[in-house]
Amino acid sequence: MRVLIVGAAGMLGTKLALRLASEGVLGGREIESIALADVVAPAVPAGDVPVDTVVCDVASPGAARGLLAAARPHVIFDLAAVVSGEAETDFEKGYRVNLDGTRGLLEAVRGAGDDYRPRVVFSSSIAVFGPPFPEVIGDAQATTPATSYGTQKAIAELLLADYSRRELLDGVGIRLPTICVRPGAPNRAASGFFSGIIREPLNGREAVLPVARDVRHWFASPRAAVRFLMHAATIDTAELGTHRSLTMPGVSATVADEIAALRRVGGDAAAALIREEPDEMVARIVDGWPQAFDARRAAALGFVAEADFDEIVRVHVEDELGNAPSTMKRPA
Ligand SMILES: NC(=O)c1ccc[n+]([C@@H]2O[C@H](COP(=O)([O-])OP(=O)(O)OC[C@H]3O[C@@H](n4cnc5c(N)ncnc54)[C@H](O)[C@@H]3O)[C@@H](O)[C@H]2O)c1
Repeated sequence: MRVLIVGAAGMLGTKLALRLASEGVLGGREIESIALADVVAPAVPAGDVPVDTVVCDVASPGAARGLLAAARPHVIFDLAAVVSGEAETDFEKGYRVNLDGTRGLLEAVRGAGDDYRPRVVFSSSIAVFGPPFPEVIGDAQATTPATSYGTQKAIAELLLADYSRRELLDGVGIRLPTICVRPGAPNRAASGFFSGIIREPLNGREAVLPVARDVRHWFASPRAAVRFLMHAATIDTAELGTHRSLTMPGVSATVADEIAALRRVGGDAAAALIREEPDEMVARIVDGWPQAFDARRAAALGFVAEADFDEIVRVHVEDELGNAPSTMKRPA
């Protein structure tokens, strides 16, 4: 099996590439080669599988065609995206990367000929849903995005379904929850604090909390997200029918739940590093986000997230901190 990851230098792309290269199998099939493409050079993961890296802008004319001609992958992970904040402030860039980039990739598959029909796993988002929300959002909820990013993802979901219906490819869209705890440096995404209030204190650093503690949202860990992507690459799509996109399972938690979980792992010292600094703009944005889902369709198809926020923190500690947060390493 040959695999292509577009957006491979990003947070999830890097983790997915590492897992595929180290395991060497996907859905029980041996991985012959992995191609990693991104506008910035992707890191080459350790492992026995041959890895090829390509630096390209997937939204530029001919780029996607070139990627497919080189590798003719059986599985394509479409992860390249401009995140929600940037897609809102830079209208043209958002549509170019998130919509035109994905459409270009689907068109390149269509144009490849010889009955080429790869599995395409598209990373969608719960941002395809907009208010007003029921308390718990079911699988039949209409996609009514309230942002340009959500709109771009929703259009791409429709394209994926139509190209699949016409048997031009075999698509699965997975609507990821907010991925938490996001490793690395803090970013300026409006959702950044959900990760920041765990990641920074566990590293002995202060974190700013811009919203009230009763704010509730929908989460899964990076490890769960990689699992979702790999499972989406191998499920029997006959079970999806014409509805090719699935809301992923996750954990519905409040900021207070997050802080309680942080305290259980890092102690009072970690929790004391959270500084409340209300930001009305962030609070307003977050107010328009979904809080909880009943993702039973995905669950029935075998997608599994964490059971609670404690598990999300535990995964972060295991995967990013070598099992010991620095707040625990400091002498009492
Ligand atoms: N992380 C989350 O919380 C979350 C939630 C919902 C959906 N998603 C989706 O999952 C995917 C991966 O998320 P992530 O957190 O790894 O994002 P990320 O921002 O870390 O990675 C995205 C990657 O896409 C690359 N990229 C951007 N424009 C490109 C272009 N024109 N050509 C080629 N590559 C380009 C970027 O360089 C980056 O490496 C994205 O599609 C994102 O929208 C993520």
